[in-house]
Amino acid sequence: MTKIVSHRGANHFAPENTFAAADLALQHGADYIELDVRESADGVLYVHHDETLDRTTNGTGPIGHASSAEIGALDAGSWFGEGFKGAVVPRLDAYLEHLRGRAGVYIELKYCDPAKVVALVRDLGMVRDTFYFSFSEEMRRDLQLIAPEFRKMMTLNIAKSPSLVGAVHHASIIEISVEQMRRPGIIDVSRRAGLEVMVYYGGDDPVIHREIADAGVDYINLDRPDLFQAARSALSGVAA
Ligand code: G3P
Ligand code: CA
Repeated sequence: MTKIVSHRGANHFAPENTFAAADLALQHGADYIELDVRESADGVLYVHHDETLDRTTNGTGPIGHASSAEIGALDAGSWFGEGFKGAVVPRLDAYLEHLRGRAGVYIELKYCDPAKVVALVRDLGMVRDTFYFSFSEEMRRDLQLIAPEFRKMMTLNIAKSPSLVGAVHHASIIEISVEQMRRPGIIDVSRRAGLEVMVYYGGDDPVIHREIADAGVDYINLDRPDLFQAARSALSGVAA
């Protein structure tokens, strides 16, 4: 059955990349939580998407210029809704501990020291429960050097060919769009290359969720775990 990877948690119903978003995603059937990692001025790892604090907290400026004391005092919930007032910007260590044993984690390195992430994940015993990606070539290169055994994901857009995902990018999971999934043979070719297949779909069309469930890919990276849970349950004949 296709595993649900919930992009920044259940971000349509709770502020992205918060404990509430992760908990809600799990209630909605998520198997994995996707998160973004950035580092504070004093070297603490946080779960936070944007380079700056402005959009998703009551702070301003680059997160990399703020101290952990400053970030720890921020409200990361009110921007989304009054009911989430007081939500914190999660520290990566606390967030992973919160998810350990409950979900897998897709860790996207936005900008941080990969060695710190690797040490943390090894300490927590979560190597097998996690996989990794970065749009930054330097993050990917460092991660591969430090942790060749960690599971990596690579997009077809960057790799250009499924055959290069493992050979050049050392990844075992390929991410494709819905349009790419529809190209005849792309899933079979990826599987023959020894890859797991993840489809990225940020929309909320139930027909497309059903189409992805029918395709039988290994993972879907999405914003609406609740909708996909309904689609895959219908496929397996289980009530949602
Ligand atoms: O797999 C790619 C996806 O997770 C990208 O996330 O940070 O660009 O919203 P983001
Ligand atoms: Ca991300």
